Amino acid sequence: MAYIRTPNDSQVRYRHQCRSSPRCIVVALSASFIAFNWIVFHAFKSESSSDNSSDPLSTDSSGKPLPTNWLDTATERSRGYRASKDWQGQWYRWRALNPSKIEQQTDDLTKFDIVYTWVNGSDPLFQTMRLDSQNNHPMFQKSLRENAKQIDSTTKRRYRDTDELRYSLRSTFDYASDLFRRIHIVTAEVAPNQPQIPSWLIQKPDSPIQIVSHKTIFPNSSHLPSYNSLSIESQFLNIPDLTDTFMYMNDDIFLGLKLLPSDLWTPLYGYVLHMEASLLVPPTVRYFDPNAITVGEWHSLQYSNYLLSQRFGPRHRAYIAHVIHVLSVSMLKEIQSLWPDDMEITSSHQFRGVGEGKDIHVSFFMGHYIMEKLRETQLESFWQYRLDTNQDGVLDWEERRRLIDRIKIWNVNQDQVTSDRRQHSRPTMIHAHKATLDRIGIRMSGTTLYRKSGLDGYPYMLRNADTSKTIPTATVKDRDGKDVLPQIPYRNYEPVKDRKCKLDVDFCFGPDFVDSTYPRIPAEQTKQIFSRMAFKEFHCGDCLLEILMQDPYRGGMGAWMPEDETSQAFASVVEKVARYNYVLGTSDYSFMALQGAKGAKKDLDILLAKWDQKAFFCINDDFPDDPVVENEIQTLFRDFLNTRFRLPSPYEIVE
Ligand SMILES: *[C@@H]1O[C@H](CO)[C@@H](O)[C@H](O)[C@H]1NC(C)=O
Ligand SMILES: *[C@@H]1O[C@H](CO)[C@@H](O)[C@H](O)[C@H]1NC(C)=O
Repeated sequence: MAYIRTPNDSQVRYRHQCRSSPRCIVVALSASFIAFNWIVFHAFKSESSSDNSSDPLSTDSSGKPLPTNWLDTATERSRGYRASKDWQGQWYRWRALNPSKIEQQTDDLTKFDIVYTWVNGSDPLFQTMRLDSQNNHPMFQKSLRENAKQIDSTTKRRYRDTDELRYSLRSTFDYASDLFRRIHIVTAEVAPNQPQIPSWLIQKPDSPIQIVSHKTIFPNSSHLPSYNSLSIESQFLNIPDLTDTFMYMNDDIFLGLKLLPSDLWTPLYGYVLHMEASLLVPPTVRYFDPNAITVGEWHSLQYSNYLLSQRFGPRHRAYIAHVIHVLSVSMLKEIQSLWPDDMEITSSHQFRGVGEGKDIHVSFFMGHYIMEKLRETQLESFWQYRLDTNQDGVLDWEERRRLIDRIKIWNVNQDQVTSDRRQHSRPTMIHAHKATLDRIGIRMSGTTLYRKSGLDGYPYMLRNADTSKTIPTATVKDRDGKDVLPQIPYRNYEPVKDRKCKLDVDFCFGPDFVDSTYPRIPAEQTKQIFSRMAFKEFHCGDCLLEILMQDPYRGGMGAWMPEDETSQAFASVVEKVARYNYVLGTSDYSFMALQGAKGAKKDLDILLAKWDQKAFFCINDDFPDDPVVENEIQTLFRDFLNTRFRLPSPYEIVE
């Protein structure tokens, strides 16, 4: 049965992919990595070493200025909840909630927009335009000569229109009408000022459905027309009048259970990210075969992870589940301000595979950027405001010894058998989250389960990682001589008591840090130690964060947040936590590829039988290139859609 993409299926497929391309190249990251992070740390330390320095929030920790209006948009995101600063501080520091301080605005302001990408590939104007672009694009010249027919059928398949948008929109009106404010359909222009408009769409001035042409969102019109979803997604941040947080849907995704705004973001728990940690994206650039006809998303995923790895550490990162993608305009702007060249280059890639597929995959990138920034905020805050007790920028032996002693006690405790191991008694950040949200009038749909808050530690810490050495990124041989990934994270949202890590202070902090005869580590060197520990040897940083949060004696927010809650430092940490806060969520979904009439019928019937179970399903209509089979499957598919989503949406012309 091919229809449900369980994590295991995906893993098998991914491994298969990896094995079949033995030339997967490994790029040495270290040198540029250290240099980059040194600069990063340098910027953050010098910037906030005195309380009256410039506002630390107006720059990213790499020292680059953030988009000037980001505070506005951050406020915009939570504009439904006019929240005071001390409300947030109390919430993060103590999990204390004072509902009277969170004044909820009208319902409409707490809703989010939905963005669809769509083109009508059956439109002759579109087809002419596409052929034209292909004939003029250097990437196609060689293969055009050699294999014109195959290219044509592959690209045709990618753009075939089975009227999915109509039904996907029906599913949105059926299940997400309490979530969305507006729906933006991002589409191609087939003639000047003539964007494609679904033939059945009723356009009214007060309609929540807006057509947005690529031309509107691409500042550089020489990148158009674009047939590359990655390039189009990279320009979402320019969609006019878009809510800061929004949901991105492809027209082959259908909703099957009720969704509410709390499935995307809440003021208490931040973004709700859906990830698939059994499917891991390597931190290395993927080998690009210039003769390949189709280029999937893995080149862009790996390239995105390569960029993230240079900045935050060379780890395998979880695939973003192929369901709803939560995106944010202010986050995308921040990413654009930090990786301007890569965002521009992604925009310029008219076809998948141009530039060897070195694209920023915005959904994957943003999800992991948020995860890393929250982690960085926590570790930085500890290093800067708690480890350096007297705040002189220098680490003396007394300051270091306190941390080393604490880690020693932690390590001994980690060696105990589970029943003897001491646990901290602090409730996790998402403990009783449904009731807590209820107190400020936010309902949960039940469709997404909140599984893990980023504030409780890095969710995908490596399983029993050996912190006495660098973890390789390429596969290693296990005892039986089999190639295995050396980086296996905790990925099933294991309870805290089931997670273990020991921190090797000698390796993680280096010889000077643990040398009692070395009286004072100067500021520059502490920065280097920090960025090596936090990023390059990321498993050290993960474990330190685990210790800070879970230490049975002193663990918790108080272990890393600035002590003085009235200080500027505290306010600035709270502001960053609010900006990057997130939970990982899961929901039940299916991924189905329709191939062969018999199998398709069976799969679709199963989906109907599971009417009330699947939160989302993605149906890939990449059917075989045989007109008879194609017709048969298309009819089955359409019958299914008409049964499953019977009611026309309010903006649909009904024949
Ligand atoms: C797509 O284009 C074809 C050909 O112009 C047209 O018949 C069809 O109605 C269009 N589909 C939609 C959903 O607009
Ligand atoms: C627009 O994109 C083209 C092609 O990538 C580039 O050469 C040009 O400099 C860009 N223009 C601007 C204004 O950025």
